[in-house]
Amino acid sequence: MRTRFCMTLLCLILLELAEVQGQHKMMDVFQPGSIWPDTEGKHINAHGGGILFQNGTYYWYGEKRGDKTSSGGVSVYSSKDLYNWKNEGIALSPSDDPDSDITLGCIMERPKVIYNRKTNQYVMWFHLELKGRGYAAARAGVAVSDKPTGPFKFVSSFRPNGNMSRDMNLYVDDDGSAYHIYSSDENMDLRIVKLADDFLSATTDDTFLFRRQREAPALFKYKGKYYLITSGCTGWAPNEASIHVADQIRGPYTLLGDPMRGPNAKKTFGGQSTYILPVQGKKDAFIFMADIWRPQNLQDSRYIWLPIGLDEEVPYVKWMDEWQLDWFK
Ligand code: GAL
Repeated sequence: MRTRFCMTLLCLILLELAEVQGQHKMMDVFQPGSIWPDTEGKHINAHGGGILFQNGTYYWYGEKRGDKTSSGGVSVYSSKDLYNWKNEGIALSPSDDPDSDITLGCIMERPKVIYNRKTNQYVMWFHLELKGRGYAAARAGVAVSDKPTGPFKFVSSFRPNGNMSRDMNLYVDDDGSAYHIYSSDENMDLRIVKLADDFLSATTDDTFLFRRQREAPALFKYKGKYYLITSGCTGWAPNEASIHVADQIRGPYTLLGDPMRGPNAKKTFGGQSTYILPVQGKKDAFIFMADIWRPQNLQDSRYIWLPIGLDEEVPYVKWMDEWQLDWFK
């Protein structure tokens, strides 16, 4: 009896010590809306993010936020299993140079990174707002790196073909062509522009998709069709999502309705879309990623990751408090 008591006590002390030393409790479940600790036990700080899969590792890029609107740059985390994320630091820092477009005090949002096979480079695009100008600049920013974890070097910022560019995403199609999907004309329009072969600039292949005042675009391809999930435009406050479908990436896109299901579905469960992640090694397995913004303290914003249901005619996203990857058959 006494020995058992001593053993239990010893175990408890060892557990406590492991925690004090910052050892990570392995995660094996997604809990949308909860604090998501990284491998050091700190809530992941990668908002409005997107994921790159490269050589067996997932990289999660997102906005590094403090308690103010201005950016701490773009952070990057790595993971092999999608549950446990290691903080790899800052992929792109704001610049000390007051003349730089990304000088400290600018706003960098919704960063996405893709890999260019021809140049062997990692290319980041993000929504950039210039320091001191609120959301008036409406530009796309581009940065590049030889390594997925950076440091990325800022290349340039611009309005693609002169069009305002705020909420955005990147998409690489099966033929290797890459596209920038973006909210334009004061967020009234959604557009798509093909990137140059090196992915560092936009071409003039720039298409108007629709005028429905949508933002937070996230695209995936399933059975040869392109599905586009977007949000409405209510700033940090959640609103109703919608899903469109098209046979070609440049459209025409047909509105299918609101794909969200369950409590608070009409407000996207309190979140706003940011990316759709194809799960590696599984066929037709996609994770819908969204942010529950906390504008009073943006770094405390939460993540919604939920699987996309494809067993009905229209893809849907059903709320679950908790789920695991074996949800995908
Ligand atoms: C949202 C947008 C966010 C951020 C926010 C600022 O509509 O999706 O990325 O720009 O507005 O209010």
